[in-house]
Amino acid sequence: MRKLTKAVTLAVCMTTGAVATNVLAAPITIKFSHVVAENTPKGQMALKFKELAEQRLPGKVNVEVYPNSQLFGDGKVLEAMLLGDVQIAAPSLSKFKKYTKQLQVYDLPFLFKDMDAVDRFQQGPTGQKLLTSLEKRGLTGLGYIHNGMKQLSASKPLRVPADAEGLKFRIMTSDVLVSQFEAVDAIPLKKPFSEVFTLLQTKAIDGAENPWSNLYSKKFFEVQDYVTETNHGVLDYMVVTSTRFWKGLPDDVRGTLKTAMDEAIAHGNKVAGEKAMGDRQRIIDSKRTTVLQITDAERQQWVDAMKPVWKQFERQIGKDVIEAAIQANN
Ligand code: SIN
Repeated sequence: MRKLTKAVTLAVCMTTGAVATNVLAAPITIKFSHVVAENTPKGQMALKFKELAEQRLPGKVNVEVYPNSQLFGDGKVLEAMLLGDVQIAAPSLSKFKKYTKQLQVYDLPFLFKDMDAVDRFQQGPTGQKLLTSLEKRGLTGLGYIHNGMKQLSASKPLRVPADAEGLKFRIMTSDVLVSQFEAVDAIPLKKPFSEVFTLLQTKAIDGAENPWSNLYSKKFFEVQDYVTETNHGVLDYMVVTSTRFWKGLPDDVRGTLKTAMDEAIAHGNKVAGEKAMGDRQRIIDSKRTTVLQITDAERQQWVDAMKPVWKQFERQIGKDVIEAAIQANN
C-alpha cells in the first residue's frame, strides 16, 4: 500500500510541475539580521516572529535570527538584502537615508513629546505612507517597532547645551543627527553600533545618545559617568524585507508571515514599553552611573539650540510630513 501511495505521488509529481515543487520543496529560509541583544524589544520581536512563523508554517519556513551584528551590521544589511543574502532586518529609522530622505523626520530633535505621539504618527496616514517610501529602491516596509526615547550620556554631567561643547558624540548614520550635535557645538561621529562600547570604554569618544534598553543591554551605562534624561528624540525601527523576495512568496505563505509579523511587532512594542522604564530603573539601581534630571528651563535651552535643525531638513523631509508629526502630539 505504501509502495502504491509513493508511486501515485511520483506520478502526480511528474505530470504537474507545481505539485512536484510543493512535495519536494525545501523550507524557505528567512534570515533575520539585527544588531541589538536578544533582551531588547527588537530582539524579542525577532524571536517571537520565528516562533509564530515556524509554528504556523511547519516545514515550509525556517527562520534564522542573527542578533548582535553577527551576520551584518546596519551599514551593510540593506545592500545584503537586495542581493538576497538576508530576508528581514529592522534597522533604526535613522539608517535609511540612502534609500529615502523622508524618514529623517524621526530624527528631528524634540519633535515628538513621547512614545504615544510617535505611535499615533506611525499608525496614522503619513506614517503608514512612509512604510512604502522605500519601494522604488526594492524594499518593502512591514511595520514599525518601538525602542524608545533617547537619552544623552557622557563622561561629564550634561545639564545645558554649553556642557556638550567640544565633546565627541557617537551618532547613527544620519545627517540630521550631525546637525543636532553641531547645533550645540559638539562633534558628532558616525560609527557602527557594534563599536560604541569600545569607543566609550577607551574614551575615544565622550558620549552618545541611546534609549534606555540599548544603554542597559549593551552596558553603555557602565562606561559613561552620567546619563541625562533628555527624551530629546526617538529611536524606533522599520521592519523591512526585499520586495522581490516578499512578492515572490506563495500568497498563503506571505499572508501567514505578515500576520505573524504583525503579532511579533505587537509583542515587541509591549516589551519596549516595559523595558523603557525597567531598564532605566536597573541603570539607576546599579549605581554605575549617575542619572541626571534637568529642570524645564534647562531642557528649554536644549530645545532652543536644536530646534532650528527642523528648518534645515524641511525640504528633504517634506513640510507636510513634519506637520503631521507635530499634529500627532495633540
Ligand atoms: C539599534 O537599536 O538597532 C541600534 C541603534 C544604533 O545604532 O544606535
